[in-house]
Amino acid sequence: MATSSVRRPTLAVVGATGSVGAVLLQILSQHADIWGEIRLVASARSAGRKLAVRGEEVEVHALEESVFDGVDVAMFDVPDEVSAQWAPIAASKGVVVVDNSAAFRLDEDVPLVVPEVNPHAARVRPRGIVANPNCTTLSMIVAIGALHAEFGLRELVVSSYQAVSGAGRAGVETLREQLALVAGTELGTSPGDVRRAVGDATGPFPEPVALNVVPWAGSLREDGWSSEEMKVRDESRKILGLPELPVAVTCVRVPVVTTHSLTVHARFQSEVTVGRAREILATAPGVVLFDNPAAGEFPTPADAVGTDPTWVGRVRRSLDDPSGLELFVCGDNLRKGAALNTAQIAELIAAEFAA
Ligand SMILES: NC(=O)c1ccc[n+]([C@@H]2O[C@H](COP(=O)([O-])OP(=O)(O)OC[C@H]3O[C@@H](n4cnc5c(N)ncnc54)[C@H](OP(=O)(O)O)[C@@H]3O)[C@@H](O)[C@H]2O)c1
Repeated sequence: MATSSVRRPTLAVVGATGSVGAVLLQILSQHADIWGEIRLVASARSAGRKLAVRGEEVEVHALEESVFDGVDVAMFDVPDEVSAQWAPIAASKGVVVVDNSAAFRLDEDVPLVVPEVNPHAARVRPRGIVANPNCTTLSMIVAIGALHAEFGLRELVVSSYQAVSGAGRAGVETLREQLALVAGTELGTSPGDVRRAVGDATGPFPEPVALNVVPWAGSLREDGWSSEEMKVRDESRKILGLPELPVAVTCVRVPVVTTHSLTVHARFQSEVTVGRAREILATAPGVVLFDNPAAGEFPTPADAVGTDPTWVGRVRRSLDDPSGLELFVCGDNLRKGAALNTAQIAELIAAEFAA
């Protein structure tokens, strides 16, 4: 009997030592093993370190052109400027790049892909690059995409409650340091007391995040909007194929380590019923409906962290609009919000090698 000898594609993970990289290595160890060699890459600072993947210790290489020799697919989980410089270099060597940074997401020659919503887009990649959306967009878009497919989305109004790991390792280290500084105190009773206790330990955040809520994520854009808010609007429009979709968004940082939450007010083309919305959410791939307030059941970051799906609860029809729904959504920003979606896209591309 003839045996098939399908070549397994070679994968590079660029940014393997980071917050997203660490989760990606776990996912690569948990998912079906479709890859041949897995090459780990980070900055020169990390060269020679060993990280566990698929039960083996693998050495980290410094990022340089030769690390892409023989690579089929590369996942980039590095800062924007590193992706902007290096993704085109990898692509010029024939590597298909799946990039997690913001460098290419709005480039019209780069598809922005969520496999549950627009998997077909991953096949058309004129620059050899596929972009992974921002973690805040990703934490809601699978649920919104499923509702859009049935009811036709007309408008989104969103507020986020974002975890500190969305700001990388530095974000998590900052919250831990601040929690140690405020532990056992009576802080939070007079203006500025938390700020004085935290001192210079603000890390990547403009205000203390321990014992606090900070209405800011990212950098300043026109007219007072933050870069994170613009990403949620622009990326949602691109993924859903609705370039004119009205999206109002306010992004807020909260003292949660991992898992972003969002309140969503969604208006649709037609009247909605909670019953049908619940059926859609209960059966949509990648979504868990957890919605029984009478029994105290609704998603929180503590439930969703470390899991793959988008969790949805508090499903209500808008009080004053029969075409509107109100939802509370939680998604692990490092899994579906970053590493899992990257892995899913890379697996779609790997399937092309096998075809
Ligand atoms: N955290 C999230 O929730 C999230 C979600 C979606 C997307 N993203 C995006 O994913 C990317 C990575 O985020 P992260 O949170 O994992 O960041 P992170 O924890 O700060 O890790 C950054 C990674 O990039 C590597 N790196 C930095 N400068 C480099 C250089 N000059 N050359 C090669 N490697 C370099 C670091 O290597 P060393 O360890 O050697 O410094 C590390 O592996 C960013 O673009 C981020 O915006 C993050």
